[in-house]
Amino acid sequence: MGNSVTIIDNRSGKKIDLPILEGNRGTPVIDIKDLNKELGLFTFDNGFSSTAHCKSELSFIDGEKGELFYRGYRIADIAEKKSYLDVCYLLLTGEFPNEKNSLEFDMLIRKRYFLHETLKELFRAFPENSHPMATLSSGVAALSSFYREHLDLCDNKKCGTFDYFIMAQRIISKIPTIAAYSYRHSKGLSLVYPDANRYFTENFLYMLRAYPNGDAEIKDIEVKSLDTIFTLHADHGQNASTTAVRTVCSTGAHPYAAISAGIGALWGRAHGGANEQVLNQLREISDSGNDIKKFIDRAKDPNDDFRLMGFGHRVYKNYDPRAKSLKELQDKLKNEINIDNKLLEVAYRLEEIALSDDYFIERKLYPNVDFYSGIILTALKIPISMFTPVFVIGRSVGWIAQWFEHRHDPSMRIARPRQLYIGKVDRKIEDN
Ligand code: SDX
Repeated sequence: MGNSVTIIDNRSGKKIDLPILEGNRGTPVIDIKDLNKELGLFTFDNGFSSTAHCKSELSFIDGEKGELFYRGYRIADIAEKKSYLDVCYLLLTGEFPNEKNSLEFDMLIRKRYFLHETLKELFRAFPENSHPMATLSSGVAALSSFYREHLDLCDNKKCGTFDYFIMAQRIISKIPTIAAYSYRHSKGLSLVYPDANRYFTENFLYMLRAYPNGDAEIKDIEVKSLDTIFTLHADHGQNASTTAVRTVCSTGAHPYAAISAGIGALWGRAHGGANEQVLNQLREISDSGNDIKKFIDRAKDPNDDFRLMGFGHRVYKNYDPRAKSLKELQDKLKNEINIDNKLLEVAYRLEEIALSDDYFIERKLYPNVDFYSGIILTALKIPISMFTPVFVIGRSVGWIAQWFEHRHDPSMRIARPRQLYIGKVDRKIEDN
């Protein structure tokens, strides 16, 4: 019998042994590929809460313990000791760079900050009040027209790892430029060219803040804080947007079309869009005179679809380690940048009440990465409309590394789930 489960169809008495596959960490999986052939059955798992759709070496989440690992390294250690670009190198290659490789990678990213001049015209087509996520997802999809050659990466025989690294460097380095252009267009500001004399994260703040004459005030502590935020968002297993990227990858579409699909999925308020909603909620609570109990009661009310944004997670049934790192970061920053202490107090109070309430305890609803990020981003003078684009910038490397892994998985097939049909059957069109 070995490592397998036996399924018996009680209707026919037929039974099948299905192999159990074990990873290096985490929950083993049942390989069900023969289920339909042997028993004529599919599985049903809405939201894929118990379904693995790929194998991966990139990141691992221990939901029970509240731990996250990138290529086997703990996120708390990485956030404290490594730059975001070194984390990009780790996710793309499997190893942290040595000093020489780190400098070379930094230079390769800097030389790719710039966009083709005609791509700038795209922003003018959008109404000024467009949400930057709309222009960002369009801008990334448009990149596929400027780098058609990367479509060849969908044919493993045509391209090698070198071509992949070029494609990955381009998307990592150009997404901040597109995001900054999207924001400045939404405010009617002139677009600011990237500055290749500035490190990745400093350059993003520069493009957001610079006056037309090139002046911009940027503190080192702001660069370091935002760099850590990018690192904490870099990858996170098979979340909804990464699954969107892998699904588009499986059809053989251009890699930048897959990243654009990931941006679209991340925008949702249940996913990356939650960081913007958390700040709105904290402000609403603060403006209501801190009537936190009213919000907690609404979150618990089964007849109210109100959710406490920044709380809960499909995988974490403990404190999200990224929320822990962000909370530590803002405690460190409190005396250096203007953290909104009023909102911070509301957040701390909300967390304290929620974590002592049976409703949240029974459902293991803890603060997730989005709960504290908005308070720090506000202190970094990042506009609220740019919160989710900041998440996109951090996650871009994870998406492209996941794309490459999916593309090179020999067992990869086009993603094509089945359904349980519950519609009408055998209907005839009546002759009038
Ligand atoms: C991200 O997957 C990832 O890895 C995502 C992410 C990443 O890095 O890529 O970590 C980033 O998306 C973080 C999550 C950001 N979203 C939010 O903060 C939005 C608020 N949270 C929820 O909408 C919810 O918790 C989800 C979407 C995050 C998870 O949803 P699930 O796993 O489908 O859980 P569920 O909706 O089935 O909830 C289980 C129970 C339900 O109650 P009952 O029906 O059992 O009575 O918990 C309740 C839910 O009503 N619940 C909440 C709640 N979240 C879940 N109740 C109040 N407030 C909440 N936030």
